[in-house]
Amino acid sequence: MVNIRTLAAFVAAGVVLSTALAPGPRGILIIGHRGASGHRPEHTIESYTLAIEMGADVIEPDLVSTKDGVLIARHENEIGGTTDVADKFPARKTTKQVDGQAMSGWFTEDFTLAEIKTLRARERLAFRSHDFDGKFLVPTFEEIVELAARKSAEVGRPIATYPETKHPTYFRGIGLPLEERLVALLEKHHLTTKTDPVFIQSFEPSSLQRLRPQIGVRLMQLLDEGADASPARLAEIARYADGIGPNKRLVVPAAPDGHLLPATHLVEDAHGAGLFVHVWTMRSEAQFLSASYGGDPAKEYEQFRALGVDGLFTDFPDVAARAVRSAKKD
Ligand code: G3P
Ligand code: CA
Repeated sequence: MVNIRTLAAFVAAGVVLSTALAPGPRGILIIGHRGASGHRPEHTIESYTLAIEMGADVIEPDLVSTKDGVLIARHENEIGGTTDVADKFPARKTTKQVDGQAMSGWFTEDFTLAEIKTLRARERLAFRSHDFDGKFLVPTFEEIVELAARKSAEVGRPIATYPETKHPTYFRGIGLPLEERLVALLEKHHLTTKTDPVFIQSFEPSSLQRLRPQIGVRLMQLLDEGADASPARLAEIARYADGIGPNKRLVVPAAPDGHLLPATHLVEDAHGAGLFVHVWTMRSEAQFLSASYGGDPAKEYEQFRALGVDGLFTDFPDVAARAVRSAKKD
């Protein structure tokens, strides 16, 4: 097994992990959102590997639990949309309440890891390539940590992971808590301090507040559009977290027709509260990109770089790396 301590070699060689951030070009962290999910089915080893090879500094797995308590990478516990589970386990379809919503499908908590490993990933979005459907496995978080360590040694720069606890209250309620298992796994791999290459994120403050006394790694509070991002709320977040992950529309709002409006003061307010800012999610396709950028996704990266964000989640780490690196030459 490749141990994360291999990163000690980089420190010895002068590649230092900042106490605030593992710096990317110009200090902006490029975070491969679900890997390079614009190019490969999300949350697969192949998607994360491609993200790193395209220039990502960090790879982002969303975490849910199997029936036997193993943390695996899926955006939600319902896996009918991103795997071939419906073909392989048709009789296991069920309906349940998750975070107050009735959901029908196939749920990770009803499958053992051995069963999950019989599945193959599928692309979620109809307009993205389906060439890789049926080819890739669903990875465990431990496999992703080991990949990051292995690729760090291979590419000669530290690669961090950015796990997100998904539905943490729900999983705790069914006897499959995420936080303790996440801490145990990070401790096993000696990822326990603010200078280690890992960040933990969650939309649920209680998940981060539970983690804070258990582990010293950097914690990030996710904020969706419409969330309270006032200076008072930021001061509250700074008591248990190190940064915020705002929906990019909290930094650059848009009109109902999608055209952009003037930027808010959130980046400077967060920095004033001692919090880093990692925005999400950059996507190149016309279905996602504001018309204000005239079809050029590089302009979006340039705008957020100029606004002073510390990192960005992107489905296209190749586009991000080109945009940020060309800005560096200016
Ligand atoms: O974690 C950053 C961003 O990924 C949050 O949204 O829904 O893609 O996990 P989601
Ligand atoms: Ca996420």
